[in-house]
Amino acid sequence: MKKISVCGKGGSGKSTVVALLAHGLRDRGYRVLVVDSDESNPGLYRMLGFDRRPEPLLDLVGGKKKVFQTFSEEPESSRSILTQEEIQVADIPGDYIVERDSIGLVCIGKILQSLEGCACPMGALSREFLKRLSLQKDEVAVVDMEAGIEHFGRGVETSIDSVLIVTEPSFDSLELAEKINALAAEVGVERVWTILNKIRSKEIASRLREELEERGISVIGSIGYEPEIFQSGLEGRPVRRDKVETDIGRILDQLL
Ligand SMILES: Nc1ncnc2c1ncn2[C@@H]1O[C@H](COP(=O)(O)OP(=O)(O)OP(=O)(O)O)[C@@H](O)[C@H]1O
Ligand SMILES: [Mg+2]
Repeated sequence: MKKISVCGKGGSGKSTVVALLAHGLRDRGYRVLVVDSDESNPGLYRMLGFDRRPEPLLDLVGGKKKVFQTFSEEPESSRSILTQEEIQVADIPGDYIVERDSIGLVCIGKILQSLEGCACPMGALSREFLKRLSLQKDEVAVVDMEAGIEHFGRGVETSIDSVLIVTEPSFDSLELAEKINALAAEVGVERVWTILNKIRSKEIASRLREELEERGISVIGSIGYEPEIFQSGLEGRPVRRDKVETDIGRILDQLL
């Protein structure tokens, strides 16, 4: 368990779960690198309790237009750490990582302007960065994926060893979990689990468990619907952890 990705339907709670897992892993003695691979939503740094966003790694390769050139067989230049075969967390230049209390955050890139073109270069950069990222024994990477499944098409999961699918109580979310489970198996991900999120009753949790297990998907744990989490999301504050610490602890017991 070194590189974990968190994916699922839009709004299911991926970024919230990333923040909760990052703190939970840190509390268990890991140094955690959170990788923001979502090219649209800006606020993961706030959810993690940072007061600024790191500069995007995309700028290290000279912007979107340079990504494919940089990672082609014969890179035009090797000035960026991203072209190294192995990238250690310590190699990441200070402007491109924010760090506190053993949690670091890097950001692949964000869409900034209308008509700037598609997000494929960000997908390619996520894939290459995660492939080259070399973690020490006590380090874990947790990747916040964009909503949906396009990242599988771009091969971002090729070096991920555990995929966590966040599933909220909706039929679409269940269907998407089934699809992600199949896609993750196709790229050879070792472990795929789903985390139930926004659970308001035991009945809902067991209904979802049944539905998922019928679809051949293992459930690693469940996180309750907590008004405090919703409130912190509404106000752009760090994700409140107190009410769900037991839920996260159970998930980490299995994951580790
Ligand atoms: N367990 C929970 N209890 C209450 N509210 C939650 C819970 N998990 C997430 N939320 C709320 O649901 C909303 C979506 O959460 P979040 O941004 O984490 O989802 P996401 O899957 O990352 O969304 P996106 O697809 O836009 O990236 C936010 O308002 C968040 O505060
Ligand atoms: Mg998100």
